[in-house]
This record gives sequence, C-alpha cells and structure tokens, in this order.
Amino acid sequence: MEIMGRGFRQIIRESPLYFHLGLKIGGYKLFGRKSPFYGSADIINVCNLHCEHCYWWLNRKENEDLTTQQWKKIIDEKFKKQHVFIATLVGGEPMMRPDIVELFVKEFPKRACVVTNGTFPIPYFKDIYFYWISIDGDEKTHNKIRGEGAWAKTRENVLNYVKNNGQKAWKDIWITMTINSQNYKTVEKVIDDWKDYTNKIGFQFHTPFMENDPLWLPFGKERDKVIDRLIDLKLNSLKNYIINPKEQLEIMKQNWGGKGTTPIDCPTWAIVSVDHMGREKQPCCIGSAEKDSMKPICEKCGLGCYSVLLGYGIKGMA
Ligand SMILES: C[S@@+](CC[C@H](N)C(=O)[O-])C[C@H]1O[C@@H](n2cnc3c(N)ncnc32)[C@H](O)[C@@H]1O
Ligand code: SF4
Ligand code: SF4
Repeated sequence: MEIMGRGFRQIIRESPLYFHLGLKIGGYKLFGRKSPFYGSADIINVCNLHCEHCYWWLNRKENEDLTTQQWKKIIDEKFKKQHVFIATLVGGEPMMRPDIVELFVKEFPKRACVVTNGTFPIPYFKDIYFYWISIDGDEKTHNKIRGEGAWAKTRENVLNYVKNNGQKAWKDIWITMTINSQNYKTVEKVIDDWKDYTNKIGFQFHTPFMENDPLWLPFGKERDKVIDRLIDLKLNSLKNYIINPKEQLEIMKQNWGGKGTTPIDCPTWAIVSVDHMGREKQPCCIGSAEKDSMKPICEKCGLGCYSVLLGYGIKGMA
C-alpha cells in the first residue's frame, strides 16, 4: 500500500501527525475552522538561473539570507506551532543552501520536499520526503525557458541520483511541469523522457502577473485538449505516475481562484508561506511580504498546490 509516496509502515509511524491533520480537516469541514496544512519556505534569495516564466524574480529585492539558527526559530514559530504536515522548500534555488535543506529534513523527517531546478548534484538525505524537479518541456523548450544546457545538467544529476543511492532512490524524484503557451505541446514527451527514472509527475499551469502575459495558456480549446489528455492518461495508463487528481485537472480548465488579483475560492489559508526572511507572503506562496509588490492574477491562476485542495472541497475565505 502506498498513498502519496508514503508506505504502510511510515503511515503507522506518523499516526500522531494524522491526528492533527484529521483535526484540521474535521475542524474545517464541520466548523469552517482554518488552520494551515502545509508550509512553504523560500530558504534562499539567490538563484543560478533566470527562467523566462519565473514569478520569483519579479519581486526579488537585494536582501540577506538567514542563518540556520534563524530558520530553526521560523520553523518553530511559523510551522511547528501550527502543526503543519508537509514543508516545501523553494527559493530561488534551494539546493544552494544545503545546510537549510538538511535542517528542514531533520525537523520534518519524511515530510520535507524540495523544489529544485536540478542543476546542482542532488544530495541524498535518508529522511527527505522527495525532490520536485522542475522540467519545463522537452530538451529544446526547457532550455529556451531555463537557459542553454539546463536540461542536460538536470538529466545528468537525476540519473546520477537514481544510480548512486540504492534501488529505491528513484522514488525520491518527482517531476513538476508548469505548462505554458511555449511547452504545452511537449507534455507527453516530458512524460516519456522521465517516467522510467522517476516516481511521480505533477502538472500545473503558468500563473501570470500581468495581463497579456504571452506565456499564459488561455482558457479554451487548446488548454482543454491538454487537460483532457492528462485526465485520460491519469485514468488509464498512468494512474500511479500522474499525481494530479481528475477533479483538480478539471478545475484548471477555467478560473477557480478569484477575481482580478483577489483570491476568493482559492484556499490561501491552507499553506503558510514565508519568504527568505521568514516573513509571511500574501496572498499565497507566489506572492510577497512587501506591500508594493507585483501580484499574481488569481483569475488566471494555474498553481497546483492550491487547486488540488479546492478539488477536495477545501475552499477560500468567501
Ligand atoms: C520559483 S521555483 C523555485 C525552485 C527552483 N528554483 C525550481 O526552479 O524548481 C518553484 C517552481 O515555481 C515554478 N514557477 C515559476 N514561475 C511560475 C509561474 N509564473 N507560474 C507558475 N509556476 C511558476 C517553477 O517552474 C518551479 O517549478
Ligand atoms: S530556477 Fe527556479 S527560482 Fe530560479 S529562475 Fe528558474 S524557476 Fe525561478
Ligand atoms: S494560488 Fe495565489 S495566485 Fe493563485 S488563486 Fe490563489 S492566491 Fe491567487
């Protein structure tokens, strides 16, 4: 038995945590009580790439990064106090701060995942939940978005990780693809390229910060076609490989998040998101803690981590 990459023994070991998760879900369903399930942390304010689609660069300001002691305090105050179940590490590029990755893995054994561009060698941590490796298309398209040579570097690092870390190492590697107007035709190629070496794949859609963003794949025929194909694969040949539930994929055919830049149905409260200084970001994990920042357009949002919750009936403040 395996649920979301978690084995039977692990589920038994974690039963006290499910108690809190159960209370949170029950509290929400019965009384509308809103307490975060997940945490997300930008553990670094630096990145080695400058990808065409990236929201993080839009609001980046020159700032110091935090020490391990400072992060430990944030973990306790922002995440542990609220009993968040899973912590997701992002950035910038989180693998440029392996000390903080190690700290999170220690504090959240089997419950910390790292979203990475995979261009640095991928270290083995016995207690990591998994790595999300960002892939943005076939080799040519990925490189166009992420920079020349990026795909081959990531490919080499993933294959080395799988080869050098034991028979089950492939289970630690999940692929995340952010679908946009440049790469939507390469979805099946991405699956073909990676499925023999990795455990799961998750899809989300590009979320624009400005009207007329050419990378946004508009609602309508082309987008529906991609989603219907993914649903077909999910329900048939790739049941266990594609992580997105059908309900979530259906939701992503239209506006599910909000109006303009205001979230409405989007369950922003379910993920506590902090930036590289440990400040809470608004309205969500791609937002910012700074008031004068650029804002994501909720009406055109394609983010996976919130739409999946909505697919399970977990809604926003409205
Ligand atoms: C900001 S990156 C940080 C982690 C790491 N540097 C990486 O690229 O995986 C986190 C994820 O956000 C995705 N992303 C970046 N800009 C986005 C946007 N505008 N809409 C949706 N996802 C986006 C990236 O493709 C990546 O998978
Ligand atoms: S590697 Fe990640 S954080 Fe860096 S620019 Fe690309 S998407 Fe953004
Ligand atoms: S995830 Fe962010 S951008 Fe998307 S609908 Fe929610 S608040 Fe808006």
